[in-house]
Amino acid sequence: MLKTVVCVSGGGTNLQAILDAIDSGKITNTEILAVISNNAGAKALERAERHGIPGICMSPKSFADREAFNEAFTAKMEELSPDLVVLAGFLVRIPEQMVSKFSGRIINIHPSLIPSFCGVGYYGLKVHEKALERGVKVTGATVHFVNEGMDEGPIIAQKAVAVEQGDTPEILQRRVMEQAEWILLPQAIDDIANGRLEIVDGHVRRV
Ligand code: GAR
Repeated sequence: MLKTVVCVSGGGTNLQAILDAIDSGKITNTEILAVISNNAGAKALERAERHGIPGICMSPKSFADREAFNEAFTAKMEELSPDLVVLAGFLVRIPEQMVSKFSGRIINIHPSLIPSFCGVGYYGLKVHEKALERGVKVTGATVHFVNEGMDEGPIIAQKAVAVEQGDTPEILQRRVMEQAEWILLPQAIDDIANGRLEIVDGHVRRV
């Protein structure tokens, strides 16, 4: 069983896609140990509770400084000791010490085709605002391993989604979720849980 911790910040629709995929057998060999949110009001925590999964709230705002949060967050993760950490719309930067302790065991979903529209300042709805501002005709989503950089780790999977005339950031966000994110993220977890992925020379390969 792949012991997994999911980190969230808001609505938790990606978390819901993971939970549904476990229920329907699309993800196998996987157990969600806990859901961690940096936001006590996150709807994602309700989704976890409804599923009988412990919800933990850890916000940088409740610590004296970022270093104190980073230490506590890393310590909590070590205590939970997951095989995999899934960032499912987690809008807090992962501490460097946690990246190195969980090297190759943290994955993230990002709502664009990396390397477009990613890095510092590109998160949530902002990504879609920027894509529309630029006038791209195709966008999408990416699942990748997390390294010390921002949205720079080895890419696991990507899926393209068409931008349509008249799209608002909200409409585009929803389409990218439905057509890409909710499919890619559960698939990546199932692939990892069943030993189908490996990293060779910084690139992900299917085995
Ligand atoms: C998703 O679109 C996810 O890709 C994005 O936040 C949203 C969370 O939605 N993540 C990032 O922007 C990370 N840089 P959700 O809470 O409904 O799953």
